[in-house]
Order: sequence, then structure tokens, then C-alpha cells
Amino acid sequence: MSEHLIGLLLGAEEDWPQAFEELVRRVGPITAPDGTTHDIRTERMTIEPFNLRDRPRTDLVIDRLAHWYYHPREWLKKVALMDDVYLMNSPFTFQAMEKHAAYCALMRMGMNVPETVLVPYKNPLDNVRWAYTSSKYNRSFDLDSVAAELGYPMFMKPFDGGAWRGVSMIRDERDLHAAYDESGEMLMHLQKAVDGYEVFARALTIGPETMVMKFRPDEPMHNRYEVAYDFLSPEVGAEARTIAQTVNAFFRWEFNSCEMLVKDGVVYPIDYANACPDVAITSLHYYFPWAIKSLLKWSIFCMVTGRKAKTLVDTEPWFEVADKDVPYKAKLERYQQLADEHFETEKYREFCEQSLGHVDEMVLDWVLSDDFDRLLVETVKSTYPPHEHEKFLGHFRGLTGLWAKDEAKILG
Ligand SMILES: Nc1ncnc2c1ncn2[C@@H]1O[C@H](COP(=O)(O)OP(=O)(O)O)[C@@H](O)[C@H]1O
Ligand SMILES: [Mg+2]
Repeated sequence: MSEHLIGLLLGAEEDWPQAFEELVRRVGPITAPDGTTHDIRTERMTIEPFNLRDRPRTDLVIDRLAHWYYHPREWLKKVALMDDVYLMNSPFTFQAMEKHAAYCALMRMGMNVPETVLVPYKNPLDNVRWAYTSSKYNRSFDLDSVAAELGYPMFMKPFDGGAWRGVSMIRDERDLHAAYDESGEMLMHLQKAVDGYEVFARALTIGPETMVMKFRPDEPMHNRYEVAYDFLSPEVGAEARTIAQTVNAFFRWEFNSCEMLVKDGVVYPIDYANACPDVAITSLHYYFPWAIKSLLKWSIFCMVTGRKAKTLVDTEPWFEVADKDVPYKAKLERYQQLADEHFETEKYREFCEQSLGHVDEMVLDWVLSDDFDRLLVETVKSTYPPHEHEKFLGHFRGLTGLWAKDEAKILG
């Protein structure tokens, strides 16, 4: 029996880690297609001094912390470089390729990224040599005419954004100057707004599993994901999925969410470098069992089959397609093939059928169990004030119950 340890590098979350730990406890030994057996365990990682030559005990790490805290981030780089620990999101590319680089790559690949301009810092850098550099090389520019060329309304947002930090809608010159003055030492994009879009689609991707969900950004958190089926035409749905998987395969990310706006059948990707996508039960509700199950299946697949993580970007196969003089649709098909090759999608499906055939039933049983309800109660109690407990418990019990009903139908 081979043993595999999944490390969880966590921040403040308790809900999905407990759910994941419970599913790993329930899943039992796995028999791989080659007949070998595998035992899976999880452990929460701690932050402590480490010798660069230390050997880690973990085979795979699910990281929710390293985007903000550099000590664990550098540990991740060490174990990726020295010990072949499998990481879902490459810390190298996530540090180097923020939203800005993702815009650039997708533009070259032909996706409909809205027109975007990067403007220089509002405030000079705090560096003694900058004054000289700035006076000599900083070309003065007219913000109003840059904006006029882009056209109102637009969004001003940090080149490396996240969690709506520093994002504002700009309708006129007054908004423009107010927002730019406030940006201070943040480096900002101006991006043409997709005005009056029909659908905000948010695609959560875990390995080759993608769920495209209907998102309502103006609703409170618990109501942002709408339970909706068929809200995109099959063609647009497939495009959204291909865009999300292309971003991930290209940048070596496997646990990421991608935001797209759909207007008149055109898909505009606007945000797709989310190192720590929201998977809280209080946000995902109906889609929560799917997300945790996908994390479980993909982690087991990677460890049991000995999949090697790719940590660096290989632009060539993608740009070869990008630079061809063929229609966008043909490119999308090819990108999907490249993504399928990267994620070993066919092998993964076969593995799920042969070695994880019991998992769907197991997850359904768990969602219907007292364990799951206790998790829900605990999460609601720690998230909302007492007078709202009953209301939210009803809300989330209803939505996860609806998932269980739908799933029971699918499983027959
Ligand atoms: N080009 C755009 N057109 C329309 N809405 C946008 C555009 N860019 C951003 N937004 C709105 O602003 C929100 C935050 O922008 P986003 O790029 O997702 O930043 P963050 O990385 O902080 O989530 C989006 O969810 C969307 O509602
Ligand atoms: Mg966003």
C-alpha cells in the first residue's frame, strides 16, 4: 500500500477544509488502474523555520495562503524545485503573471479582452534615484485624452487586482481624476466597460473540471451565484469553458476562477488570475459539493498516477495556434485540445471511472448526513449574527438539499 499525504496550507477558512478532510476520511483506500493500492491522508501545514535541504512529507499541497504570505510561498517554491511536491497553482507563474500578463496572453490568443491601457503610477516611487529617472524619462501624458480614446464608461483597476481592491467604475473625467488621484502607489489599468452585458459568467476550474456559473455581482455574497441551468447557449458555454481551461493550462494553474461577461453572444474575459478562488459554502451553496468533490478527485488522480506538476509557462504551442490565420472558432477548438492534453483529461476520466467509481454516491451520502448539516450549522453560526442564523440555515439547507435531489436523479 502506498501512502500519500495532502498538505493543506490554510488561512482563515474552516468550512471547505473540514469538508475536504471528511471526504478524504470517507474515501478509503484507492485501487489504481494498474492494481496498486493507495492510502490518502491530509494534514494542515504549519509555518515554521525550514532548512532548504529538509525533505517534506507531503506529496501534494493545496495552498490558500502563499499569495499573501511570503514565508509559505518560498517554502512552496523550494518543495516544487527540490522535492517534486505537486502544487495545484504554480507559485512562480502566479507571482510573475498577474491579471496584466493574463490579459496579454489572452489578447494574443484572440480572446475578446476589452480594450485596456496601463497608465504609469500616480505617485512617484519612494526611491532616491527615481526623481532623476522620472525627470529624464517619464513622458508627460494627458490622462483625459487616453481615456477619451478608450471611451466611457470604463473601469480603473490595479494591474494585479483581486477582491475588488481599488476597482472603480469611471463615467466621466471627474471620476477619472478622482480615481487616479486615489490610486497613489497602485499601478492601474483603464479598461473599457462591457456595458449592459446579459450574463456575468464565473467559471470555477479544478484540474479539468470546470463549472460555469451565473454570477450576480451586485447581490450580497450568499446570493451571488444563481442556481441556473442553460443560461448560455451551448456554443457560448463551450467557449467560456475553453477560455477558463486555456488560461489555466497556459499559466499552470489548476484551481482558479475566471470571470467573463457575455454581451450579444460575445464572451469578454475580464478577470482570470485568482490564486485563491472563493469556495466557501456560504458563497457556492448548491455548487459546493461539486467543488469539494472535484478537489478530491483531482488531488487523488495527481498523486496516484504520479502526475508531474508543470511550473513554468511554455508559450510555443499556444502562440503557434494564436498566430495562425484561421477563424477564432477553429482556434478555440485547438486550445481546448491543448488544454485536454495538458490536463490529461481522457486519462483522468478513465481513472475516475475505474478507481473513483464510488465517490459520487459517497459525496451524496455525505451531503445528506448529519456530519454535513453540522458543518453547515457551524459555518452559519461563525459567519452571521445570531438573529440571522435561522434565515441563512434555511437558505443553505434548501440549496444544498436541491443539489442532493438533482444529484440523486443523475445517479439514478
Ligand atoms: N471591463 C469591465 N466591464 C464591466 N465590468 C467590469 C469590467 N472590469 C471589471 N468590472 C466589474 O468590476 C468587478 C471587479 O473587477 P475585476 O477585474 O474582477 O477585479 P478583481 O480582480 O478585484 O476581482 C468585476 O467583477 C465586474 O463587476
Ligand atoms: Mg474579479
